Amino acid sequence: MSGAILPGATIGVLGSGQLGRMFAIAARRMGYRVHTFSPDDDTPTGQVADWETQASYEDLDAVRAFARKVDVVTFEFENIPVATADEAARHVPVRPGGQVLYTTQHRLREKTFLSQAGFPVVPFRTVHSLAELTAALIELGVPAVLKTAGWGYDGKGQAKIGSLEQAAAAWQAVATEEAVLEAFVDFQCEVSVVAARGVDGQLADYGAISNTHANHILDVSVAPASVPASVTRDAIEIARQILEALEVVGVLCVEFFVTKQGTLLVNELAPRPHNSGHLTFDACITSQFEQQLRAICGLPLGSTELLRPAAMANLLGDVWQAGVPNWEAACRFEQVKLHLYGKQEPRPGRKMGHLTTLANTTKEAIDTVLAARRALLEPLLGKPTASRSSTHDSR
Ligand SMILES: Nc1ncnc2c1ncn2[C@@H]1O[C@H](COP(=O)(O)OP(=O)(O)O)[C@@H](O)[C@H]1O
Ligand SMILES: [Mg+2]
Repeated sequence: MSGAILPGATIGVLGSGQLGRMFAIAARRMGYRVHTFSPDDDTPTGQVADWETQASYEDLDAVRAFARKVDVVTFEFENIPVATADEAARHVPVRPGGQVLYTTQHRLREKTFLSQAGFPVVPFRTVHSLAELTAALIELGVPAVLKTAGWGYDGKGQAKIGSLEQAAAAWQAVATEEAVLEAFVDFQCEVSVVAARGVDGQLADYGAISNTHANHILDVSVAPASVPASVTRDAIEIARQILEALEVVGVLCVEFFVTKQGTLLVNELAPRPHNSGHLTFDACITSQFEQQLRAICGLPLGSTELLRPAAMANLLGDVWQAGVPNWEAACRFEQVKLHLYGKQEPRPGRKMGHLTTLANTTKEAIDTVLAARRALLEPLLGKPTASRSSTHDSR
């Protein structure tokens, strides 16, 4: 295929978390080399990449040196300054392009793009002060959710507001100059669609995936989603249109609320592989990470076929609360795959890994993956508690 970036080439990854790690695993399996760039060292991505640059995203000299050493740049984290992507783009293709980053890293720009393009979004108002927040609360009603305009993830920078009296506390809690107030959606469920678009415009999607959150953080994902076929069809259609409207080259995930009436509202976009798509690693012919690789390298996209019903359960740092989790107990579940991201500090709420299982039905997949996660908390037999906590932070 002419112009494709072929195995042997080096992929530059901006960001160094678990998404980059799983991308690097997929890329190295296909014979590519990986160079990651982030402010950190010994990162989840760096541990499996060929090269790791530790520098600030604002250090444009370092960005230039990095870009000159790679054949294409992608990112695994959208909270990267647009100037960083622009500098890289002077030397090498950046996929998805900086304009996708620019739109999706900022909730207001994202929502404005979506609503102007005619996609269904949750009613929202822009808020710059407590007075504006109060006015917006009167317009939209309570409950409502206040979110920082930029840099939010995993429920950070969000506050639910149940009454007008809570406005001041919420405004203080998000501590920002610019925020979005959204009506609270009493949804039936949440689904996401992970989709990819190639250099030539080819589209592929993984269908709808059901998601449940705990404390605003993704907890369990299930494929195929347990929603009517018409909802899945509409969600896929919206996702495909969004990738086309943004001219994405790469992977993008659309998070949706399914209302009690069965209609779809776009919650947010992620211009990269998504936590809800982690199950594709074990459950689909082509994982979302390999798909990102194929898309940004100008290769034909792979089949997204789901081999069997699948469920994924996140492992947050909370699982370490009583000491090192009982990995052996979880591995006794023959159908369960353990993924760990190589992070050293298991802080509460921090994504440390996940479990995936395939089964004959989605219910069986959920039951098994949750049983395996519970097994992680079983006491370690034959080892005194002291040795458990002494290995707490070792790798
Ligand atoms: N307007 C809302 N109505 C109801 N639930 C919401 C709303 N906004 C966020 N949530 C809940 O919080 C989760 C995380 O919010 P989201 O906006 O996706 O932020 P993040 O960037 O942290 O993922 C959502 O998946 C949903 O469960
Ligand atoms: Mg989200």
